[in-house]
Amino acid sequence: MTQPARIAQLDVASAEEFLARKPAWVKSDQTPTDAAALIAMVQVAKPKAMVEIGTSAGEGAAAMLYGTQTFGSELFSLDLSETVYYDRSKPIGAVVDEAFPEFLPRYQRRTGVMCDAVRTLDRRFDFVHIDGAHAHPWATVDFLRCLPFLNEGALVAFHDANYMAAISQAAYYFARILPGEFVGNHFLLRYEGPTDTLFQGLMDVLEINWQQNLAEQAIVNLYEDLLMVFPAKQAGALCARVLERHANYQKFTHLYSEVHGALWKREIERRKLLSEAKP
Ligand SMILES: C[S@@+](CC[C@H](N)C(=O)[O-])C[C@H]1O[C@@H](n2cnc3c(N)ncnc32)[C@H](O)[C@@H]1O
Repeated sequence: MTQPARIAQLDVASAEEFLARKPAWVKSDQTPTDAAALIAMVQVAKPKAMVEIGTSAGEGAAAMLYGTQTFGSELFSLDLSETVYYDRSKPIGAVVDEAFPEFLPRYQRRTGVMCDAVRTLDRRFDFVHIDGAHAHPWATVDFLRCLPFLNEGALVAFHDANYMAAISQAAYYFARILPGEFVGNHFLLRYEGPTDTLFQGLMDVLEINWQQNLAEQAIVNLYEDLLMVFPAKQAGALCARVLERHANYQKFTHLYSEVHGALWKREIERRKLLSEAKP
């Protein structure tokens, strides 16, 4: 049986050139593989505009800008914080300021905001990088909030798809139902419009055990935005599921935490067994 053609292959050569310019203080949220994946993925997307949720030092942002030099793509990055979480003296996106100032005309940041701010950017996007809060359902809700502002065919990349349990769970599920693939530690999917498969996938992913509270900001206006994508019945069903799971999580947080703790314990045991099995 022939395998479907891959969407993107790691671009290791470009990543090596790019990484050589990163400032020394950067703690490296991004591995060489992550840089090679981001550069390759944006080159396939050839985006007019890109958006990133969760920017921190801006390693990913710089890679996205680096990979799109020939397209002149704009990047908007959003972060809840004003500063880098491991070095409070550095503003969000500092890697771009310090090491890649030539990209600044194509780069805009919004800080102190979350996914609902995508609606304020007044753009339609061809590439999305999701790397904000990692506990479920954040990555899924970040994706939901971007959907109304995606062009058909846009690529959506979820970081840490092989790493953190929460994003892995969403990626694991999406990977089985939506056109997409794993590129290094990213799960990359292609948005093909508001298909029934996408709707059902989102409904199912929202059922997975929640690991964190949603801020109300992330829910307000959600229905209005989803009506731009899905028929009213489906937009209503998605909103109802978010509200119902949100209320349920708040009511039974301790139970959710116990289930989450047990899943993590199993995951840690699995990793230990895997590392012991390595030759
Ligand atoms: C792992 S770091 C991002 C790393 C970054 N993409 C890079 O390549 O350097 C996660 C960031 O997400 C931000 N964050 C956490 N929760 C968020 C939320 N709900 N919305 C937006 N950003 C959030 C944190 O402040 C943090 O800066």
